[in-house]
Amino acid sequence: MDVLRIKGGRRLSGSLKIQGAKNSALPILAASILAGGESVIHNCPRLSDVDAAARILRYLGCSVRREGESVIVDSSGMNRCDIPDQLMREMRSSVIFLGAILGRCGEAKLSYPGGCELGPRPIDMHIAALRAMGAEISEQNGSIFCSAGRKLTGARINLAGPSVGATENAMLAACCCEGETVISNAACEPEIADLARYLVSLGARIAGAGTPVITAEGPIRLRSAEHTVLPDRIAAATYMSAAAAAGGDIELESMEPEHVRRVSEVLAAAGCEIREGKSSLRVISGAPLKAAPAVATRPYPGFPTDAQPPLMGALLRAEGTSVFVENIFENRYRHAGELRRMGADIKTEGKVAIVTGVKRLHGCELEATDLRGGAALAVAALSAEGESFISGLRHIDRGYEDMAGELSALGADACRQSI
Ligand code: UD1
Repeated sequence: MDVLRIKGGRRLSGSLKIQGAKNSALPILAASILAGGESVIHNCPRLSDVDAAARILRYLGCSVRREGESVIVDSSGMNRCDIPDQLMREMRSSVIFLGAILGRCGEAKLSYPGGCELGPRPIDMHIAALRAMGAEISEQNGSIFCSAGRKLTGARINLAGPSVGATENAMLAACCCEGETVISNAACEPEIADLARYLVSLGARIAGAGTPVITAEGPIRLRSAEHTVLPDRIAAATYMSAAAAAGGDIELESMEPEHVRRVSEVLAAAGCEIREGKSSLRVISGAPLKAAPAVATRPYPGFPTDAQPPLMGALLRAEGTSVFVENIFENRYRHAGELRRMGADIKTEGKVAIVTGVKRLHGCELEATDLRGGAALAVAALSAEGESFISGLRHIDRGYEDMAGELSALGADACRQSI
């Protein structure tokens, strides 16, 4: 078993190039099946979730290969329209293949993604959107059967909430509909706009992605394309939190400062100096910090739910009381229990977590229970006294290319060890 060993107490310095965004790469890989030709996807991060998406694509009959930073998918040989349960379970976000398979094949059969470590992950909005376009959908014994019937037709879709995945699924299917689709109350996350840019490069007619109203006109014959995945704002937020916690002066390169603005604001209020460049961001921290004003997670452009755990990891020693309100997922304070083992003072009740700053944290054996919760443990360990050993790295590997290597390149005493 591998663990991440971190000995706290070192300040961070130096620069780090931010990886490509997981949450962009995954829907773009799913969308590549619509092309029916070759897609060259640059800046595609090396993550276990990307490997899981590649396994799904290969099962469907596509060829997938990596050349350095790029992944090349050729979907011309696609010959299946189902995803077996085992592959669905490897990656909860595999439901994003639903709209793409339906659009390409006219039918799709997937097992239900079920719950995940963040609590139940319903897909009612995905299903309602596809039904509005004329898809016939039934659920039986944990499987979803989806058929386009005679054909998918453009529709007016008003999502019950700005779900990222449902917006993406609706966009993918809309490209294959006859006529115009208008998706309102759409999610505005930058990854949605990135998916749209990829689809447009394939020849799709989509406008408004990144705003609450997206229009798409189909059907179109998609073709081969080349695309560069946008930088990962959650990885950026994690390394910003790491520098805030450990103290120091780091520069994050190849990123979009605007995409982490809410995180920058909180860290600035906590006492860090944040200097935005055009595509870089510098964090200067003389930790320990001050408590932050209340952090309430919201859909983009609000404070991202995925950045809540690493930020919490950074504020454990901040002077005063920090309050978090988690509005997106039900079960997103699982890291709190592990952080308490380090001496953190965190009280949680429902959506709210109250963090009272402590003078010191101590390193110990910790277990990552989910991806961003795992990042929170690493951030906290950087400012703890002594060594921490974080297990459950399969969660962290889903979203970070090489957390141990990157922290160590920034001067942290961190490494990955087999025990
Ligand atoms: C995506 C991101 C994830 C991020 C989340 C919120 C990917 C691969 N994952 O997940 O990292 O944390 O956005 O920014 O991009 N909901 C329903 N019914 C539905 C769909 C969603 O009730 O049909 C609820 C969810 O339970 C959740 C909320 O809507 O409470 C937001 O979920 P959603 O935006 O869909 O998140 P994901 O697309 O799963």
